[in-house]
Amino acid sequence: MDFKLTREPIDNIEADLEIILIVNRDFQTISIKDREILEKVNFKGEQDEVILLAEKNRLYVGVEAIEPMPIRTAVATAIRSLIATKYKSLKIVLESSTTIRAMVEGFILGSYSFNRYKSKQSKLNIKNIIISIGNRNLKEFNSAIKQAKIVAKATNFTRDIVNTTPDDCYPKILANIAKKLAKKNGLECNILKPRDIKRENMNALLSVGRASRHKPRVIHLAHRPKNPIATVSLIGKGLTYDSGGLSLKPSDSMVTMKLDKSGASAVLGIMKSVSEMNLPIEVHGFIGAVENMIGGDAYKPGDVLVAKSGKSIEVRNTDAEGRLVLADTLCYAQQEVKADYIFDLATLTGASVVGVGQYTAAIMGESSRLKDMVVEGANMAGEFVTKLDFNRYLRKTLKSEVADICNISNSRYGGAVTAGLFLEEFIDRENRDKWVHIDIAGPAFVEHVWGENPHGASGFGVRTISRVLEILVRDNQS
Ligand code: BES
Ligand code: ZN
Ligand code: ZN
Repeated sequence: MDFKLTREPIDNIEADLEIILIVNRDFQTISIKDREILEKVNFKGEQDEVILLAEKNRLYVGVEAIEPMPIRTAVATAIRSLIATKYKSLKIVLESSTTIRAMVEGFILGSYSFNRYKSKQSKLNIKNIIISIGNRNLKEFNSAIKQAKIVAKATNFTRDIVNTTPDDCYPKILANIAKKLAKKNGLECNILKPRDIKRENMNALLSVGRASRHKPRVIHLAHRPKNPIATVSLIGKGLTYDSGGLSLKPSDSMVTMKLDKSGASAVLGIMKSVSEMNLPIEVHGFIGAVENMIGGDAYKPGDVLVAKSGKSIEVRNTDAEGRLVLADTLCYAQQEVKADYIFDLATLTGASVVGVGQYTAAIMGESSRLKDMVVEGANMAGEFVTKLDFNRYLRKTLKSEVADICNISNSRYGGAVTAGLFLEEFIDRENRDKWVHIDIAGPAFVEHVWGENPHGASGFGVRTISRVLEILVRDNQS
């Protein structure tokens, strides 16, 4: 998809179709070419309301306001409605300089469709998008467009990985994707195979993967620019399938469990985006890639596992496997890299979906400054995150009578927070203020279209963390 900016007035531009944004509250008062028809079909210009006037080659879409978030969503909805049509080029007016990045992101995010398993592909034929920018300065937009393209394409890359089924994407395949990305984007890449993982004493991770015919991998990617302003470690939960293990999931909950590699896939997408933006930050991506299955060799409720850190864990539920994999991967990440910031992304708990809903990620950690940074990044990116607080009473619910800690809480309540507290036990004391846990169980995979996100994988986290990294660069310059 090619974007061209021009100072030409919109009516002088040649394109197959014009997209016209209508601000909801102005609809009654502004002059609109097709007012009569629009009123006849009861168009009101509500957010994401789309109407195609095919004979006029105009597509109208409603927006709440000329602001990044509504523009991104409206543009995405508009272009999604054109998938499978024969239009090749589009034109649109840029209403405000502050929305250029969101507009370009909207076009790329909205044009996504996942066709790997369809014999008939429904693709978008639009190749050229011409944006009329009036008499604004062309130059100032170039970097916004470049960032938008990089981040939105990285999000689509993540979506593709998550949407791939467990038989086509298992730990070794995730490692191959990482290797290929590393080669293309000049990243360092180290893959740990079972023998190496054993040598690292990552016994909790190994136990989770034991019953699967697909053996685990631990992936480490690194972006190392000269003179970095900071070092960031990202850790992704990479359960390529989560059956629940012997604490087997009910069949309905199992259907979408290819989503359980969303954290890992987001880490891959973020590594792609930081390397292409060439940010002056050293960024490390760590992934624990494992399949949680049943079988004669499966780990069991009742087992006691000794994690890499030496802490023993009583397993009371094999479906709380993500935290076991992350415990070892977090330790490995801290051993390998002394980072200034540590973010983990994981589809960790159903409780977070119950608590904050399907569209929002829950963030946890000891540092208010860091959590606020993630909130700011998410707001800029158009993703939703909300903070959940730790407390010492919930911490107590993880006590075990037989080991150092239990992998589930003894309370039915507060499951997202107790999972976060479990992870904290594997963060070294000196790193506790450097770490934020992001539970993306809700927004990573939703079985309907929402805003700029398609049915299925959203690529959640790529946009937020890319913005967080941009914030670090911005704050270092000021
Ligand atoms: N992968 C799941 C969490 C999940 C649930 C992600 C729904 C996305 C949608 C995780 O491994 C899990 O099963 N967690 C358990 C923990 C429980 C046994 C303490 C859960 O949330 O039920
Ligand atoms: Zn599970
Ligand atoms: Zn899981």
